[in-house]
Amino acid sequence: MPDPSRPIRTAAVIPAAGRGVRLGPGAPKALRTLGGTPMLVHAVRAMAASRAVSLVVVVAPPDGAPEVRALLDEHSFGRAELLVVPGGETRQESVRRGLDALPDDVDVVLVHDAARPLVPVDTVDAVIAAVRSGAPAVVPALPLADTVKRVEPRPKGEAEPVTGTPERALLRAVQTPQGFDRETLLKAHDTVVEGEGATDDAGLVERLGAPVVVVPGHEEAFKVTRPLDLVLAEAVLARRRATDGYV
Ligand code: CTP
Ligand code: MG
Repeated sequence: MPDPSRPIRTAAVIPAAGRGVRLGPGAPKALRTLGGTPMLVHAVRAMAASRAVSLVVVVAPPDGAPEVRALLDEHSFGRAELLVVPGGETRQESVRRGLDALPDDVDVVLVHDAARPLVPVDTVDAVIAAVRSGAPAVVPALPLADTVKRVEPRPKGEAEPVTGTPERALLRAVQTPQGFDRETLLKAHDTVVEGEGATDDAGLVERLGAPVVVVPGHEEAFKVTRPLDLVLAEAVLARRRATDGYV
């Protein structure tokens, strides 16, 4: 039983073990730089910027944990404690390895993509606040700009028949950090089998049948996926450095 007199402890797990195939050839995506600083360093700072976050667990490429540890040791992240663990073949496996490294006294867990280096601290705090006030799973999300079609997938280059258009007003594009009551997230990872189509952690919780809620996301929490996203990220960073003294 949790001790009610003990303060709530919040940790962030940052999956950073992906290769970044869609970004093109080069170093693993999390180690590519933005404004001269590795994306992962920005992502760790974004989590450590929240006063509530006392531990950050970085999930490094499977054979790259010592290098990532050495890289992070060159930077400072305030009061937050830092752990580095090796990741796995899939994002779900990488998150699982991060969760396995959490000490027993952590009650609230954020899972944040290293590929979203510029999420503002207010978004992080809003997610944490919603979990602390009782929601077992919280995702930041934004309304869509584009209309979305459902299609019958065909091989690349072939025209794909449209099978429907979901009502855009009912859709949200979800971001990270996603926040969870620790027990709920562990149960979801223990129960839901890889490959059942969940592409985020909240998706695993949904499969348990537990409630998931959305809080407002932020346009600067976008995921760096393709080369054009790097151009946007550099521009956002340059604007921050010019206006708020962000490093
Ligand atoms: N990730 C991970 N372990 C994996 C795959 C992905 O920790 N085996 C992490 C990535 O490092 C990233 C986050 O999950 O921070 C979101 O994944 P995505 O944006 O798809 O990154 P990559 O898988 O690296 O990119 P791509 O799919 O283009 O290869
Ligand atoms: Mg991927």
